[in-house]
Amino acid sequence: MDAFLKNLPKAELHLHIEGSLEPELMFRLAGRNDVALPYDSVEQVRAAYDFSDLPSFLNLYYQGMAVLLTREDFHDLAMDYFCRAASEGVVHVDLSFDPQAHLKRGVSLDVQMEGLLGAMKEAESELDLSTALILSFLRDEPVASAAEVLERAQPWLSQISAVGLDSAEAGYPPGPFADVFRAARELGIPGVAHAGEEGPPDYIRSALDDLKVIRVDHGVRCLEDPDLVRRLQEERIPLTVCPLSNVRLKVVEQMADHPLPRLLEEGLTLTINSDDPAYFGGGVLDNYRACQAAFGWGEDIFRQLARNALEAAFMTEDRRQTLL
Ligand code: ADE
Ligand code: ZN
Repeated sequence: MDAFLKNLPKAELHLHIEGSLEPELMFRLAGRNDVALPYDSVEQVRAAYDFSDLPSFLNLYYQGMAVLLTREDFHDLAMDYFCRAASEGVVHVDLSFDPQAHLKRGVSLDVQMEGLLGAMKEAESELDLSTALILSFLRDEPVASAAEVLERAQPWLSQISAVGLDSAEAGYPPGPFADVFRAARELGIPGVAHAGEEGPPDYIRSALDDLKVIRVDHGVRCLEDPDLVRRLQEERIPLTVCPLSNVRLKVVEQMADHPLPRLLEEGLTLTINSDDPAYFGGGVLDNYRACQAAFGWGEDIFRQLARNALEAAFMTEDRRQTLL
């Protein structure tokens, strides 16, 4: 079974590239850039990754990215992750990044984009890994800031596959971002959004109705609203579920309590993803393995989940046909 899961061609649709920053690389970049870290060792960093909820994680996530300053840093961050992903049987990644978090630290969008796009090109040619970029807005920052980022991103629109919405969810509903998502759509860029991770089912509904998203990130709390479940099922809206993330952020207590089996019974279009692999104990393959251990699923279910991801990924139809 383990060889089957590893060799299964998998797509990762929910991956924050900043959340793939392993402590080893964090130290290397801190040394290169002369950035002081509040840790003495890699072990100390890992020991600090003991979260009580999403905000407690986000504090360390935003702190960790302080080492990312140059094009080379963004390139190395992405390449480090792409190499790991390829070695786990990942064939495609829709990676998201948080431009506002870097702009706020004085790192230009040029630096971010050139570093990430360079690594994406290299992944394609050297690892046979296709990639697509999602520009995510921070929902706990003003809407005007998101609108400004979209404006600044004009030179790269052809290389941006979607806009996203992430960061602290509770108390930050999607609705206020409707105009920004509409502006993106008018530029030909579809939307995805985190909803129903810590926030209520209404946030999922609002992401669909107000932001017109074509995928929902997480979405696990939809189960609290049977009408919403029916709608997600009928409209075949893909949910990018991240089981190990949900355990580490205490959305659920343990894998055995995860709602994935119930979501599956409801006939939803599910995909399995890693979210922030450096912080949550593993990549896509580890998430597949954790589902196997907890739910005892057979090969057919994993084949279907992997297929869902390939069908929902931002990739050319030619590439999709070669992978399906
Ligand atoms: N940013 C990085 N990881 C996130 C998550 N799991 N939820 C919301 N925002 C995030
Ligand atoms: Zn996420």
